[in-house]
Amino acid sequence: MAAPINDFVKAYAHSGTARFHMPGHKGRKFHGLEALDITEIRGADYLFDAKGIIGDSERQTAAAFGSARTLYSTEGSSLCIKTMMGIVHRCRRSEGRRMTVAAPRNVHKAFINACILLDIDVVWVYPEKSCRSLCSGGVSAEDIEKAVCGRDIDCVYITSPDYLGFISDIRAISALCRSMDIPLVCDNAHGAYLAFLEEDLHPLALGADMCCDSAHKTLPCYTGGAYLHISKDAPAAFSECSKEMMSLFASTSPSYLILQSLDLCSDYLTRSFRQDLRCAAARTALCKKRLSEMGFSIVGEEPCKITVCAADTGLSGDKLGDLLREKGVEPEYTDEGYTVLMTSPFNTEEDFAALERAMSSVPIDSAAAFAPDLIPRAERCLPIRQAALSPSEPVPTDLAAGRICAMTVTCCQPSVPIAVSGERINDDIVKLLKKYGIISINAVK
Ligand SMILES: Cc1ncc(COP(=O)(O)O)c(C=O)c1O
Repeated sequence: MAAPINDFVKAYAHSGTARFHMPGHKGRKFHGLEALDITEIRGADYLFDAKGIIGDSERQTAAAFGSARTLYSTEGSSLCIKTMMGIVHRCRRSEGRRMTVAAPRNVHKAFINACILLDIDVVWVYPEKSCRSLCSGGVSAEDIEKAVCGRDIDCVYITSPDYLGFISDIRAISALCRSMDIPLVCDNAHGAYLAFLEEDLHPLALGADMCCDSAHKTLPCYTGGAYLHISKDAPAAFSECSKEMMSLFASTSPSYLILQSLDLCSDYLTRSFRQDLRCAAARTALCKKRLSEMGFSIVGEEPCKITVCAADTGLSGDKLGDLLREKGVEPEYTDEGYTVLMTSPFNTEEDFAALERAMSSVPIDSAAAFAPDLIPRAERCLPIRQAALSPSEPVPTDLAAGRICAMTVTCCQPSVPIAVSGERINDDIVKLLKKYGIISINAVK
C-alpha cells in the first residue's frame, strides 16, 4: 500500500471497463495519458471526503513530513494559500472585526486573492535593513514584533524560502508568534524538499503552524500538485475544518493524474529521496563554488537554488538569462538584478556541466553596482476587498500617481504585488511599475 492511488488507477486502466463517466476522452488515447486520467468513480475516493485511497496516501505523506494532517491540492499552493487563510478565518479568536494578518510585502498574488475573497486586512511588515529585491521579504523576528505590537493580529504570514532562495529565521519568528499566541502560516511553495535535508529546514520543523508546499516545484510531481501541511502543535480546529475550507475554493474535479504523481512521490519520499537529495545538494554546492570562483556573486541560502546576483557582474539578470538560453540552459527566473536556477535530484551531471560551461563564457565586469528595489510603501485608503470589487477604470501608469489602486498589480513573475488594492499610487510605486514594464493599472473610479 505504498502508492494506493496509483495502484487503483493502473488496475482500472487495465480492466477494460466501458467508461460511461467523465472525462470525455473515455480513457482512449488522444494526448497520451488518457487511460490514467479518471474522475471520482466508485473506489477512487473523493478528495474532499477522503476516506479511501486518497486519505491513505495523504496520511502516508503526513507521516513523511511529520505533520498532524497533510491535504493534497491539485491546484497548486495557490489553492492551499486561500485555504490556510480560510482556516485561520474560521478559527480566529476575536470575531466582530475584519480579520487582520501581518505579512512582509513579498507575498504571492494568491495571498492577495485570499484577502479579497475573505475580506482580510493586512499590516505590511517592512525590513529594518534595506531589501535586495521586491521578491525578498528580508524581515526579521524583530521587524515582525514591531509591526504586531499593540495591534489585534489574527496571524503572521511569511513567504520562506522566497523566490531568490533566501530563508527566513522561522525558528525565531515562530517563537515570537507562540509567545503572542498568534498562529504562524508559511508559504513554503519553494521548499517541499527542505524536510528531507540532513538538517530539516522545513517550516513545520522550525515551528510554523501551517504551510503550503508546491510539490511540483521541487519534487517529481506534475504541475499543480501541492501539499497543505498542518503542524502537530497547531490547534486541532485547523485540521478539523481544513478539507471543508479547501473545498470552498477548489474545483470539484481534481486531476487524478496529479493525485497519482503526489501519491508516487509520497512513496519515493519515504524510500531513496533523502539520499538522492543529499547528492543533488552536494552537486549544487559544488556548482555554486565553481561559479563563485569564476567571479559570480551567488546569494541565498537554499541548497537547491542557484541565485546569481547578475548585477554584481555588470550584467542584468535578464541578459544573463538570454546568454544561458543561447547555450541551451533555461533558468527558472530572471529580472534586472538576478538569475535564478532551480536544481533537483532529477538534474543530470550533463545539466550541471552545461550550466557551468555556459557561465564560464559570460563576460564579467564587476565594476557595475547593484541598486536594490524599493519595497513599495503606500497610504491605504480602502480595504483590499472593497477596492478590488469597486468599479474601476484603466489609467496609464504615467498618470496614476494619486489614484487608488483597484485590482492589485503584480510583476508577472513571481507575482509579488507592486501596488495593492486600496493603496494610493505614489511616485515610488509609479517608478517600480515602470521598472517592471507595467504601462497601465486599474484605478478605483
Ligand atoms: C512564493 C510562491 N508562493 C506561491 C506560489 C503559487 O504556487 P502554485 O503555482 O503551486 O499555485 C508561487 C508560484 O510561483 C510562489 O512562487
